[in-house]
Amino acid sequence: MKKIVISLGGSILVPSLESNNIKQYCDVLTELSKIYQVFVVIGGGGEARRYIGIARSLEIDEATSDELGILITRINASLLSWAVGGSAYPAVAENYTDALKYAESGKIVVMGGVTPGQTTDAVSAVLAERVKADLLINLTSIDGIYSEDPKKNSNATKYDYMTPDELINIVSAGKMGAGSNNVIDLVAAKIIQRSGIPLIVLDGNNPKNLTDALLKGSFSGSFVSNTKKDILPL
Ligand code: UTP
Repeated sequence: MKKIVISLGGSILVPSLESNNIKQYCDVLTELSKIYQVFVVIGGGGEARRYIGIARSLEIDEATSDELGILITRINASLLSWAVGGSAYPAVAENYTDALKYAESGKIVVMGGVTPGQTTDAVSAVLAERVKADLLINLTSIDGIYSEDPKKNSNATKYDYMTPDELINIVSAGKMGAGSNNVIDLVAAKIIQRSGIPLIVLDGNNPKNLTDALLKGSFSGSFVSNTKKDILPL
């Protein structure tokens, strides 16, 4: 079975307390798990940012604030895992070794954050390297990687394809953006470069984009790989 690691932002999964995409993602992930070994890394979204903001206002140091962010990612990860039910391993992996062990069940493995000083982008890239994934997918709030933040500069150009070296250049320049955040953090970009694992960045607001890309090869995001050769449908 091919292995895929999916990085799913908390702001995609739970955009607000009033609305969420959990049910749709449960269906999509369950469908994919019949064909692939699926690993999902869930982010903290707005809730993590709110809690970290409160921690900072209380002058709690950054590393401890990160721990708070990690707890929120694990809450989101637990919610998804419990909502998926029997197709997911019934515990959230807190480290990569556990993720590997849980994968022996053949079920969907769900993770949140791991250690302070990074985001779940880095977790998903390290996990992809550890499990020797065939593909890493980043589901984000914009439809790919742009030369600059497209929300701030309407002239920003979207890259359909780039090499990992080009990704590092853009991330290092701090130009790439989705709102106030980079689409991919630098640690993740470096791991993608050294591992050579192909990455696709997709708009996660529509969960169907994930199945369309993987199963039909139809996608309009960005593809990062050492060779331009199409790998989709996987
Ligand atoms: P996220 O990975 O969700 O940050 O982690 P993000 O990318 O800004 O948010 P979304 O979900 O894509 O919208 C939330 C916070 O948790 C801490 C960091 O403080 C991060 O900003 N965190 C997460 C860690 O310190 N280590 C981790 O491994 C993961």
